[in-house]
Amino acid sequence: MKKFFCRLMLIPLLVLSGLFGAVAADKAPMNPFNVTQFKASKENTALYGDYRKKWLRLTGFELSSLHWNQFVAVFINQNPEIYRENYLEYLRTSQDDYDDDDDEEEEDEDAPTKNNFKTYAIGTMVAKEGYTSHQGKPGLPTFLVMMKKHPKGYDDKNGNWEYMKFSTDGHTLLRGKASQPQVQRECAGCHINVADRDYIFGTFYSGAIRH
Ligand code: HEC
Repeated sequence: MKKFFCRLMLIPLLVLSGLFGAVAADKAPMNPFNVTQFKASKENTALYGDYRKKWLRLTGFELSSLHWNQFVAVFINQNPEIYRENYLEYLRTSQDDYDDDDDEEEEDEDAPTKNNFKTYAIGTMVAKEGYTSHQGKPGLPTFLVMMKKHPKGYDDKNGNWEYMKFSTDGHTLLRGKASQPQVQRECAGCHINVADRDYIFGTFYSGAIRH
C-alpha cells in the first residue's frame, strides 16, 4: 500500500516537472549572438539607432587584448569588402613578418613589408561593442565605440576619422577628431599605429552577415 501511494505521488511530480520544463524552455535566453545590450539614446538614434539590424556584422565575439582585454563584436554600415580585403592583406603581411623572423638568410630582412591596404569610403561607420570577459565568456556590456569617415578637410592629417564612445544606454561619452587631446589620448594615439590600414585595425573577421 505504501509502495502504491509512493507511485501515486510520482504522477503529480512528473506533471509538475513537465510544466516547469515548459516554462523554462519558454524563458530560455535568446541566442546570445543576437542579443544586444547597447541602446542609442534619443539624441543618437539617427546616428546609429539601427546598427544591429541595418549594418553588417563582421565578427563573432572576439577576445581583444588591446581593447581593454574585453570581448568585442564589430559592425560596419557599408563596404564590408574593404574591411575584408584589408583583413586578408593584414594576414598576408603579418605572415611575411613572421617568415622574415624565421629566415635569417633572407637578404631584405629589414626592408619594410610592401602592403596594399585600401582606404574606406566617405560615410563609412565602424562600430565595436565591448563586453567584460567573465569566466572566458562575454559578460556585461561596457562601451560602444565607433569611427566615422568624413570628407576631406575634416582632419586630413589623421585620415578624416571621427572617434566616438557611447555608454550602454547610448549617451555620448566622447566624440571628436584625432587632433583633440582627449580623443588623441583615448583613441587616436593607438589607432595611428595602423595609419597604413586607414586607421582601422581589422584584426578579426568572420564574414559579413545581416541579422
Ligand atoms: C590601446 C590601443 C587602442 C585604443 C586606445 C583604442 N583602440 Fe580601438 N581598436 C584597437 C584594436 C587593436 C582594435 C582591433 C580589434 C580589437 O583588438 O579589439 C580596435 C578596433 C576598433 C574599432 C573597430 C574597427 C577596427 O579598427 O578594427 C573601432 C570602431 C575602434 N577601435 C574605436 C576606438 C575608439 C572610438 C577608441 C577611443 C574611445 C579606441 N578605439 C581606442 C586598439 C585601440
